Order: sequence, then structure tokens, then C-alpha cells
Amino acid sequence: MGEFAVELRDVVKKFITPEGSELAAVNHVTMQIRHGEFFSMLGSSGCGKTTTLRMIAGFEWPTEGEIYIDGVAMGHTPPYQRTVNTVFQSYALFQHMNVFQNVAFGLEMEGVSKDETKKRVGRALEMVQLTGMDRRFPKQLSGGQQQRVALARALVKTPKVLLLDEPLGALDLKLRKEMQLELKALQQELGITFIYVTHDQEEALTMSDRIAVMSLGRVLQMGPAVEIYERPTSRFVADFIGESNFLEGKVKSVSGDQAVVVIPAWNEDLTGIAMTQVKVGDDVAVSIRPEKIRLTEDARIKENCIEGSVVSSTYIGSDTHVYLDVRGQRVKVWEQNRISTLDPRAYYQKGQKVWLSLMMENTLVLPRD
Ligand SMILES: Nc1ncnc2c1ncn2[C@@H]1O[C@H](COP(=O)(O)OP(=O)(O)O)[C@@H](O)[C@H]1O
Ligand SMILES: [Mg+2]
Repeated sequence: MGEFAVELRDVVKKFITPEGSELAAVNHVTMQIRHGEFFSMLGSSGCGKTTTLRMIAGFEWPTEGEIYIDGVAMGHTPPYQRTVNTVFQSYALFQHMNVFQNVAFGLEMEGVSKDETKKRVGRALEMVQLTGMDRRFPKQLSGGQQQRVALARALVKTPKVLLLDEPLGALDLKLRKEMQLELKALQQELGITFIYVTHDQEEALTMSDRIAVMSLGRVLQMGPAVEIYERPTSRFVADFIGESNFLEGKVKSVSGDQAVVVIPAWNEDLTGIAMTQVKVGDDVAVSIRPEKIRLTEDARIKENCIEGSVVSSTYIGSDTHVYLDVRGQRVKVWEQNRISTLDPRAYYQKGQKVWLSLMMENTLVLPRD
């Protein structure tokens, strides 16, 4: 067994656009995906996710670099000789075939015997909880059930790696959330490596062991959900995943991984953690997540504490979203509604003065990009 289930080494894929110019859809991507891992590629439309997946599957070949599956360089190996299988976003079931026939199709093409096919289809349908539905036609199934048939069709070939390209994209929100949990459970149960493509950050955060955040054909950061969210290494990632307040500043001093940053708009210094190497004089962006800021009536900490006034406060059930004006800068703060009360005085009022505590470990100093 190779060290990694799938490995991309410095992979580039260039296309010639209809206008005749060259486009690097995938630009020097290196990734190592472990056996049994739920690995996601996350990024907005056009960032190169599908192209990367298609190269792993063998539908496209890299312009430069190499792809290894289970330690073996793939070169120009055709899709059917790779131990991977793909579930596409548009899962296009054969409408004139029933569930059994749809799932069995790939096995028949391979010349698997009738008995063996029956056994394997039965097992695949059991995995996706469609036992007993074998005689139904696609139009007699809900969207979620059709998606499960597509999944069974890929699983029936017992791939070592399953490639999933936005497989839940066509489903409504509630069903999508259910299927996310089911897919994750199935992956853990089967121990198959999943490489999952999505533009939905919540989906990636919920399901993945590790996430690669992509933009413009490049991987910007790769790591577990907590790392990507709590320790982004670029402004782009901090902005793309979750929400954040950003302040422009200049590094005043550095000590270990801590940096003191002058915030000109506040005429104030903030102490934070440098997410990348910084030096005195660097222009940086300071990022603070809205749920990490504490609001109090008086100043609680010596450093990183500043007064502001409430511009608006919105009650949204679990949380209250408070927008503040802090010396001319807009800052958003999410507070959890821990107590249950109808007393309006318990909530923030427009114009109310409050102190914001920005704990050092939640104040992230990022390169300005
Ligand atoms: N066959 C192709 N010919 C030319 N350009 C392509 C081709 N396939 C993809 N692209 C371009 O490559 C970029 C990445 O596309 P894609 O991998 O589909 O992105 P994603 O799946 O992240 O939305 C896009 O700009 C897209 O227009
Ligand atoms: Mg795509």
C-alpha cells in the first residue's frame, strides 16, 4: 500500500480558452490525501475543483506534474484502470432503467456474473438505505433517493477512493444536511477515502477530516476545520470561511509569534498572533471573528480593549448580532443569548456605550493581500 491514497505533486492544468488565451485552471497544486480520509476541496466557482477531480479520475491529464494513486504514478492511465470512482453533481440516472439496473450497469459492462452482480447491488443498496426499492424507476424517487442511487452506482464497484463533485448541490437545504451526516457516517463505516468537492463552507467544515481551500487554481491552505477557521494564514481564507472583522495596520514590534500592530484608524495598538512571518513596518490586516469579541460595560483587560457605541442590535434567536461604531470603524459582534428574557433592557440599545475586549489569542495578524 502506498503511503497516500492519492497524491498530487506540483500539478498544473492549462486550457486554451475560446478567446485563444492560456488559462491555468489548476496552478501548481500539491496535496497528499491519506487512506480513509474525508478530504474536501473548497472554493468558489471556477477555482479549479472539478478540473482537479477530473485529473484524479483520469478524464483529464495534467499539463505538468504527476498524480499518484496508492503510490503509483498515473501518467496517462485511463479512468477505468484507476481504483477511483466518481459521483457527479448532475448524477444523470438512466431514466428507462430501474434502480437495480442503474446500479448494476457498471458491473454488467465489466462482465461480472449475474449472481455476483445481484449480491453486490444488494449490498450497495443496503449501504445507501434503499433496500426494497430496486424495481422503482428514477422518476418514482425523491431527489435525495436519486442521489443515493447515484452513490450506490459508484459504491458497487468497491472503489478505494470515491470522488464526489458537489453531489448534494441539487438538493434542498434540509435534505442536504441529512445527506451530509449520512455520507459522513457511510464514509466512516466503509473506511473508503472520500475526496469531496464543494463551494459550501459549512458543508466542508461539517464533514471533512481535512479541507483544502482553493482560489484561482491554487491551494491557499490545507488542514482540519478547526485549523482553517481558528488559524487562517491569509486574509482571503479568514474572509472566505466564516465571518470576520478586518482592520488595517502596520507592525510596530514582534516578539516570538506575537506582534504589536498600530491601527491608524483607531490611533491605538493591538497585540495579536502573527499567522505568518512578519517584521516591523509590514502592512498587515488584523482579523477578529465576531463571536470572539466580549462586550462589557467597563474596561476589563489592559490591552486590546476599546470603547464603542451600538449602531444596531438584531435578535436572531440563538444569538444577538450587534453592530458597533468604534472610532469610525464598523465592528460586528455575535453574542449568544444565554438567558431567556423578554425584558428589552437585557439587550443592547442603539447608542449604548460598551467596551470591546479583543483577546490576544483571537486577534490574528495576517499579511494584507
Ligand atoms: N475544458 C475546458 N476548456 C477551457 N477552460 C476550462 C475547461 N474546463 C474548465 N475550464 C476553466 O477552468 C477554470 C476552473 O474550472 P473548474 O475546475 O470547473 O472550476 P470549479 O469546479 O472550481 O468551479 C474555469 O475558469 C473554467 O472556465
Ligand atoms: Mg465544479
